[in-house]
Amino acid sequence: MSEPIRVCAVDELPTTVGAVVADLDGRRVAIARDSEGSLHAFDDTCSHANVSLAEGEVEGQLIECWLHGSQFDMTTGEPVQLPATVPIAVHTLTVDEDGSVLVTLNDTTRV
Ligand code: FES
Repeated sequence: MSEPIRVCAVDELPTTVGAVVADLDGRRVAIARDSEGSLHAFDDTCSHANVSLAEGEVEGQLIECWLHGSQFDMTTGEPVQLPATVPIAVHTLTVDEDGSVLVTLNDTTRV
């Protein structure tokens, strides 16, 4: 596990449901807001092929890949809809008292 990395101020993130991408130590990490307003951090690359999950749709706690429709649980990284069968890495996201969004990479292997 790495040290927490500051991504941005929380009020710099969109307030609507959806995802954006951050480059954290050379790793593309999606920062997504779910339907409840909670934030999640996970690897941006779909495990089925090399496309950005942040360009997909968020529904509830799921994000759907725009290319073939795989859905991943943003809290666990588990695929819940084929064709993807391999989980994506999820990372720990916190917002500190100053309103900074911090992400700790739980899986530091390169993707
Ligand atoms: S590339 Fe994401 S489901 Fe195929």
